[in-house]
Amino acid sequence: MRVLGIESSCDETGVAIYDSEQGLMAHQLYSQVKMHAEFGGVVPELASRDHIRKLTPMIRSVFTEAGLSMGEVDAVAYTAGPGLVGALMVGAALGRSLAVGWNIPAIGVHHMEGHLLAPMLEDEPPEYPFVALLVSGGHTMLVDVSAPGCYQILGETLDDAAGEAFDKTAKMMGLPYPGGPLLSQLAEQGRAGVFEFPRPMVDRPGMDFSFSGLKTAVRVEIARQAVDEQVPEQTQADIAHAFQQAVIDTLAIKCRRALRETGHKTLVVAGGVSANKSLREQLQQMVKKERAQVFYARPEFCTDNGAMIAYAGWVRLQAGHQSPLAINIKARWPL
Ligand code: KG4
Ligand code: ZN
Repeated sequence: MRVLGIESSCDETGVAIYDSEQGLMAHQLYSQVKMHAEFGGVVPELASRDHIRKLTPMIRSVFTEAGLSMGEVDAVAYTAGPGLVGALMVGAALGRSLAVGWNIPAIGVHHMEGHLLAPMLEDEPPEYPFVALLVSGGHTMLVDVSAPGCYQILGETLDDAAGEAFDKTAKMMGLPYPGGPLLSQLAEQGRAGVFEFPRPMVDRPGMDFSFSGLKTAVRVEIARQAVDEQVPEQTQADIAHAFQQAVIDTLAIKCRRALRETGHKTLVVAGGVSANKSLREQLQQMVKKERAQVFYARPEFCTDNGAMIAYAGWVRLQAGHQSPLAINIKARWPL
């Protein structure tokens, strides 16, 4: 079965064709980051308009890249939520309409299920069951994945998502949008042990997260270190290092807890923050001690993309799911 996948939930336009026999045949990604940067964050109306401009040419070109004629697929998968309503509507309306025109089924995919399954596109994919850590700009959760489509949430964030904490902290430090990756680059220049921030909720039982207190602790430290409203460069890097270390320690402690409580020996990490190099190094050390393994998507599929939606759509269609003709998107949608 061959599936066209469309992602348009936020500021990335992603299109891909996944074939269950041949694997990923083609994929394309367009990032709106530059357009939103001057506003310091995603402007929903601009995001929708840009998805409209980009999607149709990208779909045509992904068919060409795959060596297929337009419409040579068996189904269309589109992100149906969670995300920005207008942005979701663009991909959903186009995907649904193409499926009507081509007389094939369509499936609305959960964006986080897409992230969760993205590591399955790698040459050596993880085997079920596993624990999944989903760390993106909008979500932070630990999930017990017993089989495709069988998800039990073990814990989630009570306030900010990990990526959101990275982005907000970066903004406090005066880094341009989107700050998460820049903050992690700055952290590489920082020295360990100069500052120490709390590891939120690690001494409480359970697997929930909370990152807003950490963000506040950073804000207080920035104010304390500022000289004439400027924090010296090395101090900034040291603060970034301490912030990143606190987030990583918290994530690693909860992942270890999830592995121990479920008895699973496989950890899958997905979502934008899973691109973080130090997080990967530290999780590698943790799973080694637990005699477990950790899997990721390749860096370009850690953040939003069409390939993960095409793949997740295929998984859902295999399980007999299909979306009705009426287009139903959801800004909020539990996994
Ligand atoms: O999964 P994603 O592309 O979009 C959502 O579904 O939210 O994740 C984007 C998030 C942003 O918050 C971004 O700052 C964060 O992932 N991110 C990182 C890194 N790369 C992306 N955070 C920390 N370190 C990174 N290297
Ligand atoms: Zn995402």
